[in-house]
Amino acid sequence: MKNTWRFGESELNYIREVLDSGFGSSTSGDMCKRFEEAFAEKVGVKYAISFNSGTATLQAGLEAVGVGYGDEVIFPPLTVISNVNVVLQQNAIPVFADVERDTFNIDPADIERKITSKTKAIMPVSLYGLSCDLDPIMELAAKHGIAVINDAAEAHMAEYKRTPIAKIADITSYSTENSKHVTTGEGGIVVTDNEEYAISMRKFGALGYAALKSGDGRVRMHKDIFQDPTYKRHDAYGYNYRMPEVAAAMGLAQTERLDMFIDLRVKIAKMYDEVVAKVDYLFPQATPDGSLNTYWAYTIRYDRDDVSWQEFRHKYMEFGGDGIYAAWALSYDETLMSSGAFKKICPPLYENLSFPMGICPVAEEIQPKLMQFVTNYGSEEEAAPKVEALRKTIDFFS
Ligand SMILES: Cc1ncc(COP(=O)(O)O)c(C=O)c1O
Repeated sequence: MKNTWRFGESELNYIREVLDSGFGSSTSGDMCKRFEEAFAEKVGVKYAISFNSGTATLQAGLEAVGVGYGDEVIFPPLTVISNVNVVLQQNAIPVFADVERDTFNIDPADIERKITSKTKAIMPVSLYGLSCDLDPIMELAAKHGIAVINDAAEAHMAEYKRTPIAKIADITSYSTENSKHVTTGEGGIVVTDNEEYAISMRKFGALGYAALKSGDGRVRMHKDIFQDPTYKRHDAYGYNYRMPEVAAAMGLAQTERLDMFIDLRVKIAKMYDEVVAKVDYLFPQATPDGSLNTYWAYTIRYDRDDVSWQEFRHKYMEFGGDGIYAAWALSYDETLMSSGAFKKICPPLYENLSFPMGICPVAEEIQPKLMQFVTNYGSEEEAAPKVEALRKTIDFFS
């Protein structure tokens, strides 16, 4: 098996348990429930609901807090396209708030400027493993009666002011796709302390079955009630976004080893930190005191004109580094948005909507400069030659 540090006997044992159970029906099996309970406990909240992606979790979060036709949702443009897509899927209006030059996360001051009477939710992103600045965001939300869905797809176990981030926002959403701290291949998990939100998200991700509970995604009731021609199954609108039991088996095993995964990524980030410190054109993502950055990636702002971004990357790879990853284009600069293709999702609402450049000047300035380095290595020894390649690249261009 490749990556034995990441996947081991416990994943195989739990997956075997699922296969041994025989896949009776879509209502049998308890692996999703076990993964959810373990994850909820790990991040310190009451309810966790597993999904088939960290995109579906975000949409469920918007649905739970009541985001619908014509509502505005504020979020940063420096993120994966999922955030725009889920807002559009809810027939809501994307409103982009700028980011901070040093943390790369959403700027609460710009959120405040963008709040209107139509704002229904703020969806900050805790980028690359670092929590967004939650205190001012939660204060704004309380003042205006707005919900906060923290997109922590990349920030498993991150802390803000020494508090686990999952305890702070109304809803916190995680992705468990391949590269994340906990992976289920593809998948997501969303957490909350609010039972009403939990039930709503559960139903939204599982076809709106009336009998679903905050703590259990399988319909469990006496067969004589369920298997009756007069029984009405659905009392809410929902999709089938459920996580498969086999994936949840991996999620459970991975959650049990999460501390090790976090510890390793943090240690590897510190190795990059040592090499980058004192280089006057490399600015690592600034981690405020009290925050635990769990470094899904180690990200720097590359502020140098005489050596291009690509030249630096190619030299790094020549010295044995893995490819440096670029930040996504800003969401409003993606062709989906700039071409107007998004308008077909809800023509009457989006007809006159456009997102010209200039909306978020800091994000526009830093996005082309960001460089993401891999932290997902099996040991400090495995990471060492990659970090050394960065040191050699810096020396080469000095
Ligand atoms: C910040 C952010 N939000 C949302 C997502 C969406 O997660 P998924 O790929 O599981 O749909 C990702 C993952 O790629 C992400 O990095």
